[in-house]
Amino acid sequence: MISFEKVNTLKGEIVVPSDKSISHRAFILSAMAEGKSKVLNPLLSRDTLATKAALAAVGAKFIEIDNGFIIESEGFRNFIEPNDIINCENSGTTARLLTGLFAGQNKYFVLTGDNSLRKRPMGRVIEPLGKLGAYIVARENNRFLPLTIIPRQLKGADIVGKVKSAQVKSAIILAGLQADSKTIYTEQAVTRNHTELMLKSYGVDLKIDGLKIEINPVDRLKPCEISVPGDFSSAAFFLGAALMFENAEILIKNVGLNSTRCGMLDILKGMGVNFEVNLKSDIGDPFGDIFIQHQEFEGIKIDGDIVANIIDEIPMISALGLFSKTPIEIRGAEELRVKESDRIKAMVYNLREIGAEVEEFDDGLKVYSLKEINKKANLKSFDDHRIAMINILLSKRFGQLSIDEIDSIDVSFPDFISKVDSLSLK
Ligand code: S3P
Repeated sequence: MISFEKVNTLKGEIVVPSDKSISHRAFILSAMAEGKSKVLNPLLSRDTLATKAALAAVGAKFIEIDNGFIIESEGFRNFIEPNDIINCENSGTTARLLTGLFAGQNKYFVLTGDNSLRKRPMGRVIEPLGKLGAYIVARENNRFLPLTIIPRQLKGADIVGKVKSAQVKSAIILAGLQADSKTIYTEQAVTRNHTELMLKSYGVDLKIDGLKIEINPVDRLKPCEISVPGDFSSAAFFLGAALMFENAEILIKNVGLNSTRCGMLDILKGMGVNFEVNLKSDIGDPFGDIFIQHQEFEGIKIDGDIVANIIDEIPMISALGLFSKTPIEIRGAEELRVKESDRIKAMVYNLREIGAEVEEFDDGLKVYSLKEINKKANLKSFDDHRIAMINILLSKRFGQLSIDEIDSIDVSFPDFISKVDSLSLK
């Protein structure tokens, strides 16, 4: 059990941790490339370290330098078959992307994960990879980790995505690059496109036409240098915090502004929130600074394709319903039920615990503004880093609300508390 002293406001500037999605992909694509790549400023958290360890197990060498790694590899055509199981820890991105990468290897692999990851759906990658000829066997009718990849040469196929998921799309892309003929993957909605964008820097130009991606087999990826920007999904907690804490003024520096990631900025605009964005680079994955001040704001109803572009920010957006003049309703977000926790259930539980009126739907929730705080609230983090960080903000905003545990923040934002403290005026 932990609780935090009340904080009156948050002021100052902050650099958020490096982007988790881009860090995973920078490690993976650099290991696939033949030669020496450089990854500067990667996120080193439990999730990305799981990806790094898995790639080291197939032969990629990570040489530590000042601000990142040189990754030296003989290329994905020369990966070695690991002599032990691969543990993806808590990371869905590691599990899904590496299942795609390794399914194309024509080698034997076993992947597993922690208690939480072993409950998350893997059928979403196993089934479409099967269409490419992959032979993967997994627990409970091919649904859950641990899974085993049996050696097979992949062939190209035409695949229509069933879930709006960048992890599934990326798994198919990584497998398709190793197949013996062309693969077409059609997404249901535009999801984060880091894999597609970054592959260009590694010398692979995918043909993209709207939701359709053409993947042709390649012999090699060329090494390159990647500098990882700040994670918009981590910045989201500070955008939210500025609206939660009266008189707050926060400048978030060097954060990734890829449009497939920062749908929350459009949502905030729709809620009447003013903020300033100063774009610093729009080559590859764009990044810049965001300045936001505390202000009053309206609620909103969110549904449709934008959900894929705010998927990790929805818990934070839903918590803002406590403070908005009118309710915040989120629909079409059934994917939240299979994240690190059931994030709909987690947010409904915590916001009700605080004293708010909340409606729960299969595919979302509706949060009404808070009338009276329950000072005795016992918040739960459900072993989920994003839920834990929202709980920390709520505890600091209202003062002394208790939280069952916050250890899970290691997954994406290990120094979250000291970053919040650096802005806190008691
Ligand atoms: C991620 C994609 C999203 C996101 C996750 C990271 C990625 O998952 O929730 O935190 O790096 O590709 P889905 O693709 O399953 O929606």
